[in-house]
Amino acid sequence: MKTMTCIEDLRQTARRRVPRMFFDYAESGSYAEETLRANRADLEAMKLRQRILVDVAGRSTSTTMLGEPVSLPLALAPIGLCGMQHGNGEILACRAAHAAGIPFTLSTMSICSIEDVAASVDKPFWFQLYVMKDRGFVRSLIERAKAAKCSALVLTVDLQVLGQRHRDIKNGLSVPPETRVKNLIDIATKPAWALSVLRSKSRTFGNIAGHVRGMENVNSLAVWIASQFDETLSWKDVEWIANEWGGKLILKGILDVEDALIAAKTGAAALVVSNHGGRQLDGAPSSIAALPPIAEAVGSSIEVLFDGGIRSGQDIMRAIALGAHACLSGRAYIYGLGAGGQAGVARAIEIMRNELSVSMALTGVTGIDKIDRSVIAGA
Ligand SMILES: Cc1cc2nc3c(=O)[nH]c(=O)nc-3n(C[C@H](O)[C@H](O)[C@H](O)COP(=O)(O)O)c2cc1C
Repeated sequence: MKTMTCIEDLRQTARRRVPRMFFDYAESGSYAEETLRANRADLEAMKLRQRILVDVAGRSTSTTMLGEPVSLPLALAPIGLCGMQHGNGEILACRAAHAAGIPFTLSTMSICSIEDVAASVDKPFWFQLYVMKDRGFVRSLIERAKAAKCSALVLTVDLQVLGQRHRDIKNGLSVPPETRVKNLIDIATKPAWALSVLRSKSRTFGNIAGHVRGMENVNSLAVWIASQFDETLSWKDVEWIANEWGGKLILKGILDVEDALIAAKTGAAALVVSNHGGRQLDGAPSSIAALPPIAEAVGSSIEVLFDGGIRSGQDIMRAIALGAHACLSGRAYIYGLGAGGQAGVARAIEIMRNELSVSMALTGVTGIDKIDRSVIAGA
């Protein structure tokens, strides 16, 4: 892992190790991928302001998220099918996050179940909830997250309908992989991946299979999931979920000031400025473009988290400078997972930590709370 010196190295390695169908699933955005590209382009366009001869010897990347100490202003974002990038992917990523002193978020659409992860780690993790039409199932998911002692519920609010990703359709993406000759040949050339998945605790949607009556078989499960995204979802449901959960709630997928102001009044602990990594509304602004007006409008009434395009410690610094309290990482850690399992995720976190620390030094700041607009050139 030592020769993996940046997230792009992990990405290139993951591309070689993970079957095409699942690598493309992680890479893609919706439709023409305009928003996916904007997430990166707008971050890269922000230049940092070099400062010199400031004593930065005692600097620290430590801060808090939701009032809990973290070693770095970063959490691992919920990623569906994470366990298809590497067998037991959710467990390995959670262990790497905990070892690094940052939160991990388990997706509703994970391969390893809430119970599998809880039994394999010794600290609480966050659970991300998709609201399904079957509210009885939603209630049972919330109960299972409580039983597993999850420390926050991340409610994703930007997926009432699914943005289309062309490559998933062209590749015949399915869990487990469709038995097309092309896919079988691809998997045959990725023996380490195949072995890790064969040995893993689960090879299907762990939170759903076995928990919905009649959904034991993979095809009926896929049909059930596709029919379950609820187009009627509204702020009333947020209230219902907040009551059912009763703990710290994070609203993920906010891109507009009006919505952020409503979110701040729900009693949620945090919101995540996010466009789902460019996977939902194509043509929406980049997350970093949406961040400043939202941070300004909500002030300190709710913690503002950020995701979308974070590939380096410099990017974390840019988001914090524009008003984020901390960030979530999606693809950056997924590349690490595909490249080298737990060690790869640990490496991804370490790379971003070191980059953030060096960027702090070279912009002359010593603490996360000192990062503001003054670190941006020309701001
Ligand atoms: C492969 C993949 C799967 C994802 N699955 C989920 C999910 O199950 N739930 C969710 O709330 N967000 C999901 N997201 C969105 C991420 O949580 C996050 O918002 C996004 O990845 C951030 O952008 P980045 O990948 O550029 O860091 C997914 C993103 C990717 C790339």
